[in-house]
Amino acid sequence: MFSRDVARYIEKRDGGIPSNPDNIYLATGASDAIVTMLKMLVCGEGRDRTGVMISIPQYPLYSAALADLAAVQISYYLDEDKCWSLDVAELKRAVDAARQHCNPRVLCIINPGNPTGQVQSRQCIEDVIRFAKDERLFLMADEVYQDNVYAEGCKFHSFKRVLFEMGPEYSTAVEMASFHSTSKCYMGECGFRGGYMEVINMDPEVKAQLTKLVSVRLCPPVPGQALLDLVVNPPQPDEPSYHQFTKERATVLATLAEKARLTEQIFNTVPGITCNPVQGAMYTFPRIALPQKAIDKATEEGLSPDMLYCMRLLEEEGICLVPGSGFGQREGTFHFRMTILPPTEKLKIVLQKIREFHVRFTQEFS
Ligand SMILES: Cc1ncc(COP(=O)(O)O)c(C=O)c1O
Repeated sequence: MFSRDVARYIEKRDGGIPSNPDNIYLATGASDAIVTMLKMLVCGEGRDRTGVMISIPQYPLYSAALADLAAVQISYYLDEDKCWSLDVAELKRAVDAARQHCNPRVLCIINPGNPTGQVQSRQCIEDVIRFAKDERLFLMADEVYQDNVYAEGCKFHSFKRVLFEMGPEYSTAVEMASFHSTSKCYMGECGFRGGYMEVINMDPEVKAQLTKLVSVRLCPPVPGQALLDLVVNPPQPDEPSYHQFTKERATVLATLAEKARLTEQIFNTVPGITCNPVQGAMYTFPRIALPQKAIDKATEEGLSPDMLYCMRLLEEEGICLVPGSGFGQREGTFHFRMTILPPTEKLKIVLQKIREFHVRFTQEFS
């Protein structure tokens, strides 16, 4: 019954493209569904061990799950100079190199991106789908930030919709799963642990195994399911809460959009910090130029240089950022990740303090 509601919600999102309730699996959040799917897909020994392509920078759930499953991580880099966009030539480079030592079977995409905040263009999604078909890869589309798109000219395109709009050559061939959650968007109810995945074109025998694997855990907790039910059945125009709901949702999303702009603007005024536009999701991943003496000091202390930076910021200002090395970054570059979630007035103070800290830190090690 409930899967039917989720399927209807997806159909509405995707302009009427059918969604089959039998393809919906409820989960205790997207993480649970992602790990379950990876568990299903990882197999083989030695050179035949499953390789899973993940972006760098990446959301650490992926590298942790791959390590746990002893799968082979295949890193592909997002292009910082092009607003963290995804380039199919880079996917090709990564998959060709990996074929020498493992069996690449899965391509994971996060759109909108965490930690990099980029929103993929429709063209890029089509290119990725073509690539997945040519290379016979299972596509895992992590779309938990699907309502978090702020930048002008950017729009969320679901992988499922684009897949189906590309016609039967693709819509009947490419195997994929897409993931959604009650944790993000305007809901932000991460504590309740609700989410789902929709599985497309999965081989029926494999799907039977997936159903068995998911069923072993019986079902996600009731509060998470109740929350997900509210997400997929929002108040309707003839219902009493409709106006308040639409107003609150619009306010939450408009405030996030304002904070996304503010963060980018303020960071880009600081010499030594460069910040791409936060097109979507809830994070910014600015690049920081660190003086050689700071890099030497970090090496001396056995820390990565961006960890030293973040620890010092925490000690001096009580602000906790995550070093870029926790997400992966190109060799020799340094970043941090910050959420745009604090209330606007507080965020302004936080940004001001980071600006002052950065200047101080740079001077100290120059
Ligand atoms: C890209 C991405 N995927 C999945 C998750 C996990 O979501 P959930 O809370 O539904 O497990 C997160 C949480 O931060 C995320 O950023």
